[in-house]
Amino acid sequence: MQLGDPVLTTPARAIAPGEIGGETLRALLRDMAETLAAAGGVGLAAPQVGESLRVILAGSFPTARNPDRPHVPTTAMLNPRIVLASGETEPGWEGCLSFLRLTVRVVRHVSVTVEYLTPEGAPARVEATAFHARVLQHEIDHLDGILTLDRAASPDDVRPAGS
Ligand code: NI
Repeated sequence: MQLGDPVLTTPARAIAPGEIGGETLRALLRDMAETLAAAGGVGLAAPQVGESLRVILAGSFPTARNPDRPHVPTTAMLNPRIVLASGETEPGWEGCLSFLRLTVRVVRHVSVTVEYLTPEGAPARVEATAFHARVLQHEIDHLDGILTLDRAASPDDVRPAGS
């Protein structure tokens, strides 16, 4: 789904216990994994594939342009929520698969702790820092209908991608 689609600005609903392990959720996770892999991205939220559900994929890997990014395998998270966030914040430029032509400068917590359910329904927790923490905050924002553009503090914080 691209910028302008209302699903991107609508808060998504939580996955209910009875949905875990079901074919609908499995199909969604497959669709999301394929979409993310095809785009070569680091994160994706279910609203971006048109499903207003609290499901994200998030990981991190270094690129030629960003060699310092950590290696974190892409992880599927159901009902993720930030339970702890560092007081320390930092700005950084973020892309989004829902509007590839723009990059937006967003201030994020430097580290966050996220609790979630695995696709099998097991409770899990991750402590993330730096770019991985940024990806998690970006994707969880999508679940609340919040885009990077909403967090831009000034017009200078929005640029054409690749500039
Ligand atoms: Ni995004």
